[in-house]
Amino acid sequence: MTARSPIVGGNWKMNTDRAGAVALARAVAAGVRPLAGVQTVVFPPFVYLSEVAAALAQSGGGASLGAQDCYHAEKGAFTGEISVGMLKDCGAAWVLAGHSERRHVMHEGDDLVNLKLRAALHAGLSVILCVGEKLEQRLTGQTDTVNERQVRLGLRSVEPSELARIVIAYEPVWAIGTGKTATPQDAQDAHRHIRSVVADMFGTPAANALRIQYGGSVTAANAQGLMAQPDIDGALVGGASLKADEFTAICAAAANAR
Ligand code: PGA
Repeated sequence: MTARSPIVGGNWKMNTDRAGAVALARAVAAGVRPLAGVQTVVFPPFVYLSEVAAALAQSGGGASLGAQDCYHAEKGAFTGEISVGMLKDCGAAWVLAGHSERRHVMHEGDDLVNLKLRAALHAGLSVILCVGEKLEQRLTGQTDTVNERQVRLGLRSVEPSELARIVIAYEPVWAIGTGKTATPQDAQDAHRHIRSVVADMFGTPAANALRIQYGGSVTAANAQGLMAQPDIDGALVGGASLKADEFTAICAAAANAR
């Protein structure tokens, strides 16, 4: 099996303030610096990206910087939107595409998610494509169908050479921010199916090299069991990423699982 190095993202969502974001970035950078073999990315709100970039650089660069969203147009009359060029200008190397809150609170569809993902790749950024089923879809046996559709449409027209800059985050919507986590086995089953879809699209070697994170109420307490699964290559963490100690413990669990 291909050895995949785990990656853990901290999605701060619409939390922190200017001073809090800088302090959290410094604490995360210090916490993850001694950890070998795990990549760490933090996703602060847009307005704090530059300051967090500076804080991470001053802290020795142990963690990378990402943005929570982007818009696919280069520039122009798109009030309130942020281009990928602007994100790069602020120091971001990563961007999330299709987070469940973008899909279900802001009503973004798969076509828009795909446009954003491709714009980010085109600009040289790396992308975490988020997919996952809602509770009623799981209860009616549609988990694999929903994930497959979101993966196929999300990755439509992506070049094979670009896949190395993509990570998929499997985040069941019912597990996000609810304290309900998928069991390690349920998560593993979904991850294995997602990897098989990517294998069908891009071939088995590329699919085996692709990192697939689990997200949805990941904590220091449940990370170890999730990270032990063969197709789980890290975590995308919301609530627990706002506490540097807990986030560091999740990063350590991902590092130790390999
Ligand atoms: P949560 O969020 O860890 O708070 O459930 C995860 C996410 O939305 O990425």
